[in-house]
Order: sequence, then structure tokens, then C-alpha cells
Amino acid sequence: MEKIVALCKRRGFIFPSSEIYGGVGSTYDYGHYGVLLKNNVKAAWWRAMVGERDDIVALDSAIIQHPKTWEASGHLAGFTDPLVDCRKCGHRFRADHLADLACPEKPSKHPGEAENCSLTESRDFNLMFETTAGPVKDSGATVYLRPETAQGIFVNFKNVLQFARKKPPFGIAQVGKSFRNEITPGNFVFRTREFEQMEMEFFVPPADAGQWFAHWIAERERWYLELGIRADHLRLRPHEPDELSHYSSATSDIEYLFPASSSPEPGRWSELEGIANRGDFDLTAHSQHSGEKLEYFDQPTGERYVPHVIEPAAGADRATLAFMVDAYDEEQLEGGPRTVLRLHPALAPIKVAVLPLLRKDGHPELAREVYAGLRRRMQTEYDDGGSIGKRYRRHDEIGTPWCVTIDHASLSDGTVTVRERDSLDQRRVAIDALAPELERRLTEPWRTPKPAGSAR
Ligand code: GAP
Repeated sequence: MEKIVALCKRRGFIFPSSEIYGGVGSTYDYGHYGVLLKNNVKAAWWRAMVGERDDIVALDSAIIQHPKTWEASGHLAGFTDPLVDCRKCGHRFRADHLADLACPEKPSKHPGEAENCSLTESRDFNLMFETTAGPVKDSGATVYLRPETAQGIFVNFKNVLQFARKKPPFGIAQVGKSFRNEITPGNFVFRTREFEQMEMEFFVPPADAGQWFAHWIAERERWYLELGIRADHLRLRPHEPDELSHYSSATSDIEYLFPASSSPEPGRWSELEGIANRGDFDLTAHSQHSGEKLEYFDQPTGERYVPHVIEPAAGADRATLAFMVDAYDEEQLEGGPRTVLRLHPALAPIKVAVLPLLRKDGHPELAREVYAGLRRRMQTEYDDGGSIGKRYRRHDEIGTPWCVTIDHASLSDGTVTVRERDSLDQRRVAIDALAPELERRLTEPWRTPKPAGSAR
């Protein structure tokens, strides 16, 4: 994980927020390659959810919603974590995570040990960020930053039903920021207070809920695998009855085996996404609190019912981190070691880099022409900084699947060298055929070059 954090900083993927002021703790900003990568993750999710299906529509609801939303959803009363304070060092911990955490003052000790920390009784701490709408700061003006995108979907159920001309089974998908005042954020962008979710609520006839629950578990697992996550780094974990959320009758997490933060600690299975059977909890609750009927009337059968909901809820930042961690590789080549991000080409921030061998002799001019032809069709970067070896290494590190080099021969025979990131295979391709050739490679099924099995 430290290597990923260092690479993210070195190559401008992700860096600590407000760094010039000393940072604000577990808050991160995404730089150029990080933005492109996370956008590709979100685009792949949209493609799987909406682009390739005709039973799911898109939504972008507001972050600040009517406060009653959070009363109805149960967040005001129950979206809490158990909090304990240390009377000596003043740090705060989640009571249910104590065994995992080291005291920041004395990292070798765990909180709870007699000579280290002296902990208060646990009390419930609501994770919603509160703010005030409008100029008057009284209790009537209190609003909340949404802690999940899902509720924006439920409160729009009626609108979508009316305008999208859908009937169950159908879904509403949304991607956007959510906010949780986490007591112990950490592990880089794995748990932060401001993050992006990719959530879809799938409304189904009650009798079909079990079958759709199984369907979405399989679909979501397939999504991660097809985008290159190693099968042995992914697992499904059904929730035990005592860990189910208040709205859920069944939940399965898709977990990823994150690497140890410090060797020789074993790796750690952690949640990437939860798939929940929410039943009719949300529509019924919003119906009761708003007085609006949130149900489906099936004209042909005359049947009226509250649809049940299956929800695959993923984190865009967590998924981005997992794709990066899984893609990270180091290997020894003849010319020395290289670090390479073996990202699926669909996720790679830059698809192709155009590199003039020399900064003279007509190479830059031809390289610029090639660059201009490609950039209209895919994310392309022109790179003439440093030796060709250094430029290859740079693009290996940011996961660029193909480098196109313009050399002396290019000027006379109109061909360029295409170097492939994973196999290091180099072959000459005619400039005229370059764009279609790269587009073909981009769309063909991708087989992960990563070895199965890991030492984690
Ligand atoms: N609507 C259901 C819901 O929000 P959740 O398991 O609390 O369920 C869904 O969140 C996903 O959102 C998680 O699996 C995770 O990927 C992401 N997520 C939740 N809290 C997060 C945090 N503090 N930082 C980053 N991602 C988070």
C-alpha cells in the first residue's frame, strides 16, 4: 500500500488535500491521471448499468435534500458508530475497531492496554455532516450532506416511474459524492469523509426479489473480474444476521484482498461493494413520512404493490484503489527494474503515448501529426521529455498500454513502432493503420497478464 501511495504522489494521481496548509487528515485530491482513471471507472460502471441495458435509467439528485429524507431513511436516528475517547491522549476510536488500531501516540500499543490508553464508555456518534441552509442559523435551518446517494433515488421514485415509462423490474442508477463524518478514516482513499458512490436501486415485484438479488451479486462480481481484478483477490461474503443494516433482509459484500500495510502482516479482506435486499423498507418509509403513495399499479392485472429493492452499492474511490493495487507490479528487465501498472486498457488514464525518438531531425513534427490524428479518437499524450527508456518507464508506471515511437525510419517508410506495456512486444505499424489498429486493441477482450495466486 505504501508503494501505491508513493506512486500516486510521484505521478500525480492522488495527493493529500490542502497540503500547503499541512493537510486536513484523510482528505485527498485527485490529479490529472487520477481524475482520468476514476472517470474511466465511473464510465465503465455507467456502461454496465445503463449503456448496455434498457431497464435502468440515470439520475443525478441533490446532495442537500429535505431533512425529513433522513428521518424517514433512519439515518437521523440510527446512522451511528460507537465512539470511545482516550482520556490520556485525547484520540477517538471506533469501539468496534479497537482490536485493529494502534494508538497514534504509541503505535506499538493497542488502545485499551492498561498503560496506554484509558478509554471512556462507548457512546453513539451520528456520522452525518450537519450544516445550515440560508442565513439564519436556527434549528429549522439544519440540513445534512447526504451520507449515501441511494435516498435521492427513493425520493424520486414517483418522478422516474412517471417520466421514464418503466415498470418493475427496472432500476435507477446514480453516481455522486457522499459524506460521512467517519471516526477513523484511513487506509489512503479506502475510507474518507468525502467520497464517491456508484449506486443502483433495482425495483422488482416482491416475489422476484430473491432471484434478482442473486442476479446482481453475480453481475457485480463479473464487472470487477472483467476489468482485470484477479479472481483470487476477490470474494463474496454474505452478512451474518447480526451485522445486517436496519433496512436489509440479506446483504453480500464483494471483498478485495488488500495488501498488508506493512509486511509481514497478512493481507486484509475489505469491502468494495455491498449488494443488499432492501425489501420495501425505503419506499414504505418515504410514503409514510411524505404522505405520497410510492407504489406500482399494474394496469393489465389490476395489481397494486410496493416494489422491493435490490441495491448494488459501490464506492468509486475504493474501486479505483483496488484496480490500482491489483495492477501494480514490479519486475526485473535487462535494463534494470521496472514498475508497471497493468491496468485494463479501458481503465488506463492514457491509452497511447506518442514519443519522438529525438527532439530534432523532423521527429517532433511527424510525432505531432500522429498525435493530432490519435487524440481525437482516444486519450493520447505527447511526451518528448527525457531518454526514450525513461519515457517508457514513466508510461509503464501510469499504466499506458501502448507507446508509439517515431524514429528515422518513420520519416522514410511511414511506419512507427508500437510498444505494448505488458508483453513489451514491439512491432511496426503503418501510420495510416495506427488509429484503427489501436481502436481494435482497445475493444478486443482483454486477458489479464497478471499471474494468478499471490503472496498476500
Ligand atoms: N446505500 C447503501 C450504502 O451506502 P455502504 O456499504 O455504506 O452502503 C456503499 O456504502 C459503498 O460505498 C461501500 O461498499 C464503499 O465502497 C463505499 N464507501 C462507504 N463509505 C465510504 C468511505 N467512508 N470512504 C470511501 N468509500 C466508502
